[in-house]
Amino acid sequence: MTTKTLTATLLAAALALPLGAQPTLKDVYKDAFRVGTAIAPRVFDNLDTTEVRIVRTQFNAITPENVLKWEVVHPRPNEYDFAESDRYVAFGEKNGMFIVGHTLVWHSQTPRWVFEDSAGKPLTRDALLARMKDHIQHVMGRYKGRIKGWDVVNEALNEDGTMRQSPWQRIIGDDFVVKAFQYAHEVDPKAELYYNDYNLATPAKRDGAIRLAKQIRAAGIPVAAINSQDHHKLDANVPSAALVDSMFQAIRAAGFHANVTELDVDVLPRPTRAANTADVSARAQMTAQSNPWTTALPDSVQQQLAKRYADLFAVYMKHRDIIDRVTFWGVTDGTSWLNGFPVRGRTNYPLLFDRQGKPKPAFDAVIAAAKPRA
Ligand code: GLA
Repeated sequence: MTTKTLTATLLAAALALPLGAQPTLKDVYKDAFRVGTAIAPRVFDNLDTTEVRIVRTQFNAITPENVLKWEVVHPRPNEYDFAESDRYVAFGEKNGMFIVGHTLVWHSQTPRWVFEDSAGKPLTRDALLARMKDHIQHVMGRYKGRIKGWDVVNEALNEDGTMRQSPWQRIIGDDFVVKAFQYAHEVDPKAELYYNDYNLATPAKRDGAIRLAKQIRAAGIPVAAINSQDHHKLDANVPSAALVDSMFQAIRAAGFHANVTELDVDVLPRPTRAANTADVSARAQMTAQSNPWTTALPDSVQQQLAKRYADLFAVYMKHRDIIDRVTFWGVTDGTSWLNGFPVRGRTNYPLLFDRQGKPKPAFDAVIAAAKPRA
């Protein structure tokens, strides 16, 4: 028996699984929270058989990486294109998964015309609200009762918790967030509605997200969860597990649930300009030092990654009564967005499955963390 099989067998025994069964993420966490992943067409079109197998066996929730973003689903005024999102939803239904919609209102991956009239002038508040409502009605309405939870608004906050000066905020005002939730709730009152953002372990930003969620709740619209993207770094302090823990404590104290929605751990050095952001517009140039592990991840770094994941999942387990789902942003290392962000063309190792689709030590660490620490 190899060390690996031995570890898996011991884990299966510890978790009281049938003899010989390989533990899976969705099974070991089934009493705690759903475990999801973000998928691309190569998965829902059954093109990448390795990723399809992993998604089917390990996860019970899916989020679309891109196909429900505005630029894909609503590329031109009055023109919707649901070809890919229909196949995404069908894949989730066929596999009995919890299907997430991502995302209705965001400043990124949203065409410029959305904010302009036919002469290219900025829209008025009323015209942009009407356009937002039309979009939400078409996109949510099409999947009513099938997509069970929506990231209604993505990334409305600055790092200090103030409102980001996005075109939504500039034209409509701060209440664009409440309006979006109101329209979404009207379309599908049963759908779970979420506010989604990154760096929420930063206290000021976390408090901003809680403030937004309270405003929405005060307007009479239920916020099913505050969604923390959790794009983390290998460095145990970016952010520390203690800060992640305080984030959940603050969300709990405010009376909300939480989801972790875009989990990954960037193992590569960050160029200063994009040091601590998940802002998709931040880009930097490649240098030799910024791409140190082009052929394999050294074992010491594998172990560090496993430890980082174990610490994060220990925090998630501690808060399992308010965490409904933990979703990874991607399936295998080879196809993660972090190979292209914030520097294009690097070799990153942020997930639980390697480029061949094999579980990494980080996978075993996450499986082991399902057994609450005494
Ligand atoms: C943000 C978005 C996601 C995705 C990631 C990176 O976090 O919410 O949709 O674009 O960036 O891929």
